[in-house]
Amino acid sequence: MRQIQVFDNKMEGSRAIARYIANLVKRRQEENKPVVLGLATGSTPIGVYEELVRIHKTEGLSFKHVVTFNLDEYYPMRPSSHQSYAWFMHHHLFSHIDISAQNIHIPDGALARNHIPAFCRGYEAQIKNAGGIDLQLLGIGRTGHIGFNEPPVSADTITRLVSLHNITIEDAAADFGSISFTPTEAITVGISTIMQAREIIIAGWGQNKAAIIKKAIEANVDEHIPASYLQTRPSVRWVLDKEAAAELSEVPMQSEA
Ligand code: PGA
Repeated sequence: MRQIQVFDNKMEGSRAIARYIANLVKRRQEENKPVVLGLATGSTPIGVYEELVRIHKTEGLSFKHVVTFNLDEYYPMRPSSHQSYAWFMHHHLFSHIDISAQNIHIPDGALARNHIPAFCRGYEAQIKNAGGIDLQLLGIGRTGHIGFNEPPVSADTITRLVSLHNITIEDAAADFGSISFTPTEAITVGISTIMQAREIIIAGWGQNKAAIIKKAIEANVDEHIPASYLQTRPSVRWVLDKEAAAELSEVPMQSEA
């Protein structure tokens, strides 16, 4: 069932998502079971990670039994580079919580090109061996991408090397100083990989996402709008701020998780 929640601002939306994740992590810990989270990067989830760190520090939430798989990484990219998603995750989340290093999985942007196909097959196998993703957190790009699945993309895609859309490269250029320094490729999980997650939360903040969010939710499912594939599966929760929801036909206001 699709659910759309609209918050006054991204801080409130981020807190609601973090609380939901924290409750899942806590529940699984009480059951003595691992929990597998699919994690996203970019500006969208930063507030969620800040709040999870706060919950860890002030409420003692443990991440020892949490296994993570990140959606994507630029290619080529050294994990130690400050522009890498590996660095992003350590900076915003992993270095502040008690997760075990061996439970963290991020596509490796430093591989030789000819090693990428085997790596991608291995990444899919690691997700399966971990029991599949319990909860996938997503942002949405202005191209409608989820992960780095740029349009057009088919529903059966799995982890692979992809080319980035020009709009995505433009949006990333600020982080790299200029377009000429911005990677044009990435390793990303596929639409099929994402759709197999048991639960999905997709967040969107700000007016510049409003048009693509309307298309993703209200237009027909289309390979040119990658996030529209989310319409085809149950358990997708959209968490938006007012600006990002501004173009939706119906805007349910929500004040709590
Ligand atoms: P952003 O990117 O969070 O930086 O807006 C979202 C995305 O590209 O998925």
